Amino acid sequence: MSDCTNCPGAGVNRREFLATSSALAITAVLAACGDGIGGSATGPSNVNATVTLANYATLGTVGGIAVISGAGTPIAVVRASTTQYRAFSLICPHQGTTVAISGTGFRCPNHGATFNASGAWTGGQRTNGLFEFTVASNATAGTITISS
Ligand code: FES
Repeated sequence: MSDCTNCPGAGVNRREFLATSSALAITAVLAACGDGIGGSATGPSNVNATVTLANYATLGTVGGIAVISGAGTPIAVVRASTTQYRAFSLICPHQGTTVAISGTGFRCPNHGATFNASGAWTGGQRTNGLFEFTVASNATAGTITISS
């Protein structure tokens, strides 16, 4: 034990030092993780893509999901009803890995976060839900326009 009375930690016993150090380490880890959940649901801000629905066979039925191409960022379209479509960013809100379709929802191959067809987190690595884009339908043209 040092005789220095002006040194940091002077007068603190080993047990107090370890308790304080552990609390500081936990605080630092939580701060590095932001809100403690990890990640955010933000998505690309410059998306404006028109999708011809007939090009994606899986969108022919309610519950169908398709990864669309040509949007400049990975996007999945979900047919939510006979007339409604939803579009989600496939950029994982945890650390940015591209999420894949898995069953009736999505799964991130990096740490295993899973999401349902509404983009909500359902299991695996705790994170936020998938970012959802705005979708406008044009039934006459058989297209949807996805925008951020
Ligand atoms: S990047 Fe970690 S769960 Fe997707």
